[in-house]
Amino acid sequence: MEQEVIMVDQARDWWKQAVVYQVYPRSFRDADGDGLGDIRGVTTEMDYLECLGIDAIWLSPFYPSELADGGYDVIDYRDVDPRLGTLADFDDMVAAAHARGIKVIVDIVPNHTSNRHRFFQAALAAGPGSPERDRYIFRPGRGEHGELPPNGWKSVFGGSAWERVEDGEWYLHLFAKEQPDLNWKHPDVHEEFKTTLRFWSDRGVDGFRIDVAHALAKDLESRPLDELDQDPRQGEGNVSNPLWDRPEVHDIYREWRRVFNEYEPPRFAVAEAWVTPEHQRFYASPDELGQVFNFEFAKADWFAGDFRRAIEEGLSCAELSGSTSTWVLSNHDVPRHATRYGLPQVKATVHHQFVTDWLLRDGRTYVEDRELGTRRARAALLMEMGLPGSVYIYQGEELGLFEVADIPWDRLEDPQARRTAHGDAIKGRDGCRVPLPWSASDTPEPAAWNDAFGEGMTGSFGFSAPQAGMSRADASAAPHLPQPRWFADHAVDVEADDPASMLSFYRRVLDLRAHLLTATGDTSFSWVPGEELGPTPDQVIAYRRPAAGGKTFTCIVNFGAQAVPAPEGELLMASDDLSFGCIPQDCAAWFLA
Ligand code: GLC
Repeated sequence: MEQEVIMVDQARDWWKQAVVYQVYPRSFRDADGDGLGDIRGVTTEMDYLECLGIDAIWLSPFYPSELADGGYDVIDYRDVDPRLGTLADFDDMVAAAHARGIKVIVDIVPNHTSNRHRFFQAALAAGPGSPERDRYIFRPGRGEHGELPPNGWKSVFGGSAWERVEDGEWYLHLFAKEQPDLNWKHPDVHEEFKTTLRFWSDRGVDGFRIDVAHALAKDLESRPLDELDQDPRQGEGNVSNPLWDRPEVHDIYREWRRVFNEYEPPRFAVAEAWVTPEHQRFYASPDELGQVFNFEFAKADWFAGDFRRAIEEGLSCAELSGSTSTWVLSNHDVPRHATRYGLPQVKATVHHQFVTDWLLRDGRTYVEDRELGTRRARAALLMEMGLPGSVYIYQGEELGLFEVADIPWDRLEDPQARRTAHGDAIKGRDGCRVPLPWSASDTPEPAAWNDAFGEGMTGSFGFSAPQAGMSRADASAAPHLPQPRWFADHAVDVEADDPASMLSFYRRVLDLRAHLLTATGDTSFSWVPGEELGPTPDQVIAYRRPAAGGKTFTCIVNFGAQAVPAPEGELLMASDDLSFGCIPQDCAAWFLA
């Protein structure tokens, strides 16, 4: 694949080649010692983020929320949850980021609000048939007394997608019942979100991540609801699907683009849209959001073919939409990739089920080979960071964290775990949302450890700062999700001083990428011909890019057992030792010629 040369204007289109770091605020850093991460915690660690070498941070929701879905149930889109700080704290954080040249992206959740949002409260109070109720999707039930839900749709989190209210009507919630879906045919809904986009843009926010961007437009009118009795998770990309990826959704984003363009430089947005690769590009077009997440890396198993397809699709989608691609190995919704790559690899379609199954059994069913997972995670980083486009890093992956698969059931927060019975339950996404370890020494005495996860522990691996004047022991509530003992090996203060750590590796890779690749503004890409790659080219991912100083950059990743000969040129860095000048299995290397 030879791409047309697209030069990126770095000042205006900084996001087209950015390295974006995802902060999950409740688990990043707790500045006030209540066990919950907060906005001041992000400000406190701005030096850490700068030193990592990222271009932007994206904050998952920090708005007032009942935490029915980790903050994705928003009560007020234009405020900060009091447990996480204030708007003044937010402004300080933006100022601290901007002072270091770091941009700020916030999460917008437009498909649903919290059931505590003022719109939903008004909808309940005003009753059936009212304009207030029409801001959501209320319908009468079926059965003699309307006691059955309008149809059999299931929520993404399990159970019915309909919930009945006191006066007998039912409302739609594709996610948790505390997350009623908005009716995007109502003008108030449009105004609410345009006001929100301007509110944050005026406060200096540089961009937005749009949650479940493919679900806003729904067609529940063309056919009777009970004829639409299908699993709403199916049929993505199919225009006859009433719920997902409908063509009218793009009218909403064209309207938003006009708001983004009121600012200079224009704000950008990235869509979270789990749609087919052919449809992703519509969301990314320049008259809509600008960029879309390509989740194919996050879905790929450790097979060269899976990644080759993911790269091809990502680049072609970017070219068709006139944008750049995005690369994502992990986020707050998927098990950590150092763990995924350390489990036995089976073909993609069953792998998802397989990982879920493993998580379900507290990570005990299959052996997690952490050494192998780490080795592959390092190789994956070189594969990802050499590509043209933007890279989204999820907090903690730079520490090489693994999934915490054995959080006790009664400590889980994810609605996926709460909404399914233990027998067929999935444990959900908390295993990648455990508060980060900042300091290995902030632990209890070894005797205080208990197999049930640090019961009675007073430390938090430096996640929670003690309140001024308090001793460590009195200082803080326990972190909202329990941290396992092995987090000590991954603490920032341990890794920062170790040149062989994952953190040091990330810092070096990001620095090289910025100077060697991003600085050129040139996003062209070509595959290395198979004949240069030894006897098993299908086991290899190898591509070239133009590099600074008129040089050529080559990235080679070897998935197969046969070593791959190194190309001509200087070895810039490798994820592991080369053997006799060749790239061994599960290793990646960067070259410059
Ligand atoms: C998105 C978020 C996920 C959330 C869901 C519902 O997929 O990434 O965390 O649960 O939307 O808002």
